[in-house]
Amino acid sequence: VLFQLRNPSSPPCIRSWIPWFGAAFQFGKAPLEFIEQARSKHGPVFTIFALGKRFTFVTEEEGTEAFFKSKDLNFEQAVQQAVENAVSVPAEAFYQNHGNLYSMLKGKMGPSNLYVFTGTLCKELHEHMAHLGTEGTGNLNDLVRQVMYPAVVNTLFGKGICPTSQSEIKEFEEHFQKYDEDFEYASQMPECFLRNWSKSKKWLLKLFEKVVSDAERTNPSETTSKTLLQHLLDNLQGKHLAPNYGLLMLWASQANAVPIAFWTLVFILSYPSIYKKIMEDLTSVFGKAGKDKIEVSEEDLKKLPFIKWCTLEAIRLRSPGAITKKVVNPIRIQNFTVPAGDLLMLSPYWLHRNPKYFPDPEMFKPDRWKEANLEKNAFLDSFVAFGGGKHQCPGRWFAIMEIQLFVVLFLYKYEFVLLDAVPKESPLHLVGTQQPMAPFRVQYKCRE
Ligand code: HEM
Repeated sequence: VLFQLRNPSSPPCIRSWIPWFGAAFQFGKAPLEFIEQARSKHGPVFTIFALGKRFTFVTEEEGTEAFFKSKDLNFEQAVQQAVENAVSVPAEAFYQNHGNLYSMLKGKMGPSNLYVFTGTLCKELHEHMAHLGTEGTGNLNDLVRQVMYPAVVNTLFGKGICPTSQSEIKEFEEHFQKYDEDFEYASQMPECFLRNWSKSKKWLLKLFEKVVSDAERTNPSETTSKTLLQHLLDNLQGKHLAPNYGLLMLWASQANAVPIAFWTLVFILSYPSIYKKIMEDLTSVFGKAGKDKIEVSEEDLKKLPFIKWCTLEAIRLRSPGAITKKVVNPIRIQNFTVPAGDLLMLSPYWLHRNPKYFPDPEMFKPDRWKEANLEKNAFLDSFVAFGGGKHQCPGRWFAIMEIQLFVVLFLYKYEFVLLDAVPKESPLHLVGTQQPMAPFRVQYKCRE
């Protein structure tokens, strides 16, 4: 109320009586639910004062265009501190490297370059799926991770560069999972508040000193033979930060794509008519079940648009809770003026639930993607899971391809009995795609 009296044109501000923590406590417990409640109470634009910062949320389409296009907003300033907390890259080096590294990643993972990865990824997925055997029972989330993580890492970083073999992976996975689990909190606060997270970060950075030196040692002069990591090393200014950037790239390549691969399968397996259609499509392209290690090309994937629509629909429903920009000059959104210094937050998760753009928004309806001009690499209007404007996720086409390819191989090879009810998505995280709230066990066995 005091704030409103001081500045009537600012959005309503939610704060609590403990000034520094502000609304952090309620907000931190379940940010996605908190946003929804705040939205119904205060309207589509509101500010949360938490951890000494002002986060202003824009939860409806007004403001989306400004969010992606306005020169009064800055992406780099919004994420710099988070990058410094997460991987210890100092501000100066971050600003020096960001534009160049972003362009490189966008080019290397763009739609016209995907063919470079498809063959290797297909082979790697087969190899790691073989470790699951011909039948078994497990939590689908773990099964997906066991296959996707090593296959993708070997494809992007080079085989034998990161630990991926059965014998060395356990300790790595423990640290990486801890690192990923608390990444969001850790990127927002000093490391001393999160002791276990800090231990895992140090362990991973130490490991990446070796990863980077192996990648440097084997770096070929021929551009077409380089891995994505080697391109990153070639483009980096300040070589001592190579382990830090390597770790950041590993996290970016795994954190969102692996949960989405899980959700895509969950949605497909829990809608019998969708599953049936997909199995018919697979049969029409690859023939009956039972063939060993089908080779899937870019052309094959183009013949399976329905699986791509399922992937995009899973991304729509489980998209990041928020993406962020720093307000560098006051900006007008609806009838409010958002002051400089605020972090402006746009919620893909809530925008994707606007019935005006996505009728029956809570329903998994892959057919809605018929309307998107995917041949021209355009998504549906108001689909912002990868951000928008000039800072869109540079890995988006690779992400869609890897998930589509994984789903093709997994469903072609195995059939499933579902042992648990479909879990809800966890409201705990704001940054990144949602994790499941509960285990989802399946029995799997090779199709005959
Ligand atoms: C379904 C999977 C994915 C989703 C939903 C996703 C989403 C996002 C979003 C929302 C951003 C921030 C954009 C913004 O704030 O405007 C981002 C940034 C980024 N993503 Fe992704 N991403 C995915 C997969 C990937 C993959 C597979 C890679 C790499 C192989 C990747 C690499 C990156 C990088 C490097 C950035 C930082 C870009 C920058 O600093 O400008 N992402 N992603």
